[in-house]
Amino acid sequence: MKLSLRMETVKNTVVPCKTLCDVGCDHGFVSIALVEDGTAKKVIACDINKGPLAAASDNIKAAGLSDSIETRLSDGLHKVTKEDRPDAIVIAGMGGALTVKILTEGREVLKTVSQLVLQPQSELFLVRKWLRNEGYNISKECFLYDMGKPYFVIDARPGEPTPHTDEENAFFDEFSEYLLKDKNPLYREYLKKGIENNETYLKGMPAEKRGELIKKTELMRKALLMTE
Ligand SMILES: C[S@@+](CC[C@H](N)C(=O)[O-])C[C@H]1O[C@@H](n2cnc3c(N)ncnc32)[C@H](O)[C@@H]1O
Repeated sequence: MKLSLRMETVKNTVVPCKTLCDVGCDHGFVSIALVEDGTAKKVIACDINKGPLAAASDNIKAAGLSDSIETRLSDGLHKVTKEDRPDAIVIAGMGGALTVKILTEGREVLKTVSQLVLQPQSELFLVRKWLRNEGYNISKECFLYDMGKPYFVIDARPGEPTPHTDEENAFFDEFSEYLLKDKNPLYREYLKKGIENNETYLKGMPAEKRGELIKKTELMRKALLMTE
């Protein structure tokens, strides 16, 4: 089983743990890889849909890991209990708003969790904001391209986030404090390309509609400067 670079990055971000919940496990490839390489002793592979869960179950059986990976039909963390005592959670490949909904509704279960590995496909700012407000630190963030598409993988741990003004918080929620301070070269190129694209759009836009995009592009320029 060959994982995509995105899934491989998600897997490699997880630190050794006893019980991991893979929420929205789909095919179960990440769950399987995490047990196979010894990172997770046990995995609860959850999905809201029966089809993906059946596929995960077949893949888990084929890998001979039915004793270590349990599949569970669950909307988010609803069917995971405090008694399961997960110490790590993976939520990958879902939108930022859905990721936040799953975390919010699963708050009780998160009490035993020491690592959240999150790979939202959109609205990253919602996830970073939730983490900051709920007392999590982003200890690492990876930025990568897989098949030409950009992805962010967040490693969050319980802890007090660095204090900032509201304005700074909003800026870092949008542009990632970790990636900017890390001066990530790939992320720098991503920002540069985004600015160039916006400049092209702006040229073709009626003047009265440009305000929002001009503001956003100025913030992107500020972010780009921080990566120098
Ligand atoms: C795009 S796939 C991502 C699969 C895998 N996590 C990955 O990163 O490759 C999203 C999966 O999440 C499941 N899903 C969507 N909403 C969910 C929810 N509220 N709770 C659990 N699973 C959900 C879908 O059924 C689907 O299998």
